[in-house]
Amino acid sequence: MTTDLLGIAEIAEMAGVTKQAVSNWRVRYDNFPRPIQNLQSGPVWDREKVSDWVKGFKGEETHVLSFINLKGGVGKTTTAVAVAEMLAQDARKHVLLIDLDPQTNATVTLISEEKWAEMDREGRTIAQLFEDRINPHIAPKFDIETAIARRVSTVNDGISRLDLLPSSIRLIDLQDRIPMIAMAGNFTANPLEILRGALQPVIDRYDYIIIDCPPSLGTVTKNGLRISTGYVIPTIPDIVSTWGIYQIVENVERFAQDIGRAIPALGIVATKVQSNNLHDRVIADLKARRLGRFGEAGGMPQPPLFENTIPQTVAVARGADVDADIRTFKGKYGTAYDSLNGLTNEIKRLCEKKKL
Ligand SMILES: Nc1ncnc2c1ncn2[C@@H]1O[C@H](COP(=O)(O)OP(=O)(O)O)[C@@H](O)[C@H]1O
Ligand SMILES: [Mg+2]
Repeated sequence: MTTDLLGIAEIAEMAGVTKQAVSNWRVRYDNFPRPIQNLQSGPVWDREKVSDWVKGFKGEETHVLSFINLKGGVGKTTTAVAVAEMLAQDARKHVLLIDLDPQTNATVTLISEEKWAEMDREGRTIAQLFEDRINPHIAPKFDIETAIARRVSTVNDGISRLDLLPSSIRLIDLQDRIPMIAMAGNFTANPLEILRGALQPVIDRYDYIIIDCPPSLGTVTKNGLRISTGYVIPTIPDIVSTWGIYQIVENVERFAQDIGRAIPALGIVATKVQSNNLHDRVIADLKARRLGRFGEAGGMPQPPLFENTIPQTVAVARGADVDADIRTFKGKYGTAYDSLNGLTNEIKRLCEKKKL
């Protein structure tokens, strides 16, 4: 039996319950995974499916959320970082932020550029992880434990439950070569499973994993989606920024079907909102769930708009200005603080209710 198959006894051991309890779960819960095979020794299950179910049942599951938009500059990073910080600081959750964007914006808002340069030199970034897989003949350098920066953020000079897996600009040169990994002779190396494999030893430590994705649906983003239990679409409420949303929803849906697991959109967040006619109109469409092609006959349902919309503010725009006291949420986010906090609570409620 391979390690990815479990019998009743092994499920009981993993869950810390009796075999009888597992048998009861099978009878009582319709959503308990079906066995994938019936061997002579009894039924066997897929480890990943059963382990996810058990974690959900015990309320111990890790919520993994990707922040995605095909467009840059729409507030993906700002929103992802703020949600991660507030889940860790205010909700006291254990949070890991994964920066998958070679632009490294999330990385350098959470750790100093000096610290980032040191980690990059030592191969302690997501780029090293992919590089190791691209060059299977060279001894791997990436180590998940040393690549995670702990107690990151400018807020409070570091938030104790907030960790970061940094990105690197070196990822720009690597990302186009990642899909080739499967052809490099080693057929067991699936290029979409790289991140999942690397995170396995640490994933259970976190209540939330927030993934800041690059503005594309390429292999790097798909590595993030592969482990995501849901995703969030930040967008400026204008025509260019919302253009690709239909395509995102369509592509994620197809990808979810390929991997045999649902990856629901929690919702769309309106960011950098200004009071003008265009923003008002796009927000009205988003509220009515009839944005562009979503509103057409036969279109897919539009993910809902989050109630909290994030205003365009001076504090966020000026970023790491020396005058700003970015050691407090109020100083760092200014008048956008309340809505970012409200958004974080909406996301938390959805995750805990729907068990995403
Ligand atoms: N609510 C906001 N008010 C003002 N500026 C913002 C706001 N949100 C983001 N910005 C600014 O807009 C730019 C792009 O935001 P960012 O979060 O990096 O977007 P993305 O990750 O989608 O590229 C950054 O300079 C950021 O400081
Ligand atoms: Mg970004």
